Amino acid sequence: FTVDWDASAVEKGGWDSFMNKEIHEQPQAVADTLLGRFNLDGDLNLDEVRIDEEVFRSIDKIIVIACGTAAYAGMVAKYAIEHWVRIPVEVELAHEFRYRDPILNSRTLVIAISQSGETMDTLMALRHAREQGSRVLAICNTQGSTIPRESDAVLYTHAGPEIAVASTKAFVAQIIAAYLIGLYLAQVKGAMYRDEIRDIVDDLRAMPAKIQRVLDTQAEAVESAAQAMVDAQSFLFLGRHVGYPVAMEGALKLKEIAYTFTEGFAAGELKHGPIALVDSGEPVVVIVPPARGRNVLHSKVLSAIEEVRARGAYTIAVAEEGDEDVREYADIVFWRPQCPTLMSPLVDVIPLQLLAMDMAKLKGLDIDKPRNLAKSVTVE
Ligand code: G6P
Repeated sequence: FTVDWDASAVEKGGWDSFMNKEIHEQPQAVADTLLGRFNLDGDLNLDEVRIDEEVFRSIDKIIVIACGTAAYAGMVAKYAIEHWVRIPVEVELAHEFRYRDPILNSRTLVIAISQSGETMDTLMALRHAREQGSRVLAICNTQGSTIPRESDAVLYTHAGPEIAVASTKAFVAQIIAAYLIGLYLAQVKGAMYRDEIRDIVDDLRAMPAKIQRVLDTQAEAVESAAQAMVDAQSFLFLGRHVGYPVAMEGALKLKEIAYTFTEGFAAGELKHGPIALVDSGEPVVVIVPPARGRNVLHSKVLSAIEEVRARGAYTIAVAEEGDEDVREYADIVFWRPQCPTLMSPLVDVIPLQLLAMDMAKLKGLDIDKPRNLAKSVTVE
């Protein structure tokens, strides 16, 4: 009597890949990153960050520096923080930031986002920011790593160790952490009413269950899209507003692990060039914003789907449950539960991660260790 056993299978906890496991850990990653960040009155308490409230009050600009997936989390946060706090937020790839003489001073808060805490490009950028007198707050998933150690302060994401090279649960946890910083700034600067902040916190707390619902209900639809499109040479992803960075992240996942040539772009840009790429059978993934509240962006994104479909594209939409208008335009729909626009990236990214994983699986590729990539890039 023998038992097949290997250490890595045990670590995967029954899943066929770390990526699959980590995708399914996202409800927990979000819940854990929210945990313990409030006082008994329900107000945000970021004492762990150890930057004086006075300093936070004086901040008049934020610059997010990061690479890869972490940079897309930063782009999502820009929409939320500017809306809530009414101060400008720039997001810059860390390797570009340092070499362009950015404008920094003591009222600039630099947020360095990194899962590993070891990305050299991000580390060099944060050193530059500190030399210029700015405070650097790290959002990091790895306790004691270099980026938090060299920053003025850190807010840890509690996603748990991420093993698969393609980042998944770190992304949603980074969005949560950045949102908490935004809401905290709004609180100390008095940019929002207490009740408004509490309502948003309630929306955040509702997200783990919504992510779980996507995981529970959308896997089959994603699998059939992957099967239909596994031989496609390229994929286009488009979105608007927070759907734009989600499109970029979906495109990144697919190139990282399925080696498919992808491009993610802002849906409004379609007519300015990318539409020339659309030919018969080209898969186009479209992130559709909520239809509720007479969202003008909704109809604009629908007309983008119509445009590409008229040219023969195979259209995959990520849309809100109940959005019946979408059915007409899309070959296949991945449904997300209803949620406010600013929360939608946390659910919209899930089917895109699954799509990349299914495609890689169908192609027989190594999902956790894609060729040419490293989990953390410690060279410039
Ligand atoms: C590498 C990884 C990406 C990751 C990026 C930033 O390129 O392959 O998945 O998004 O680094 O990593 P960090 O650890 O700084 O978040």
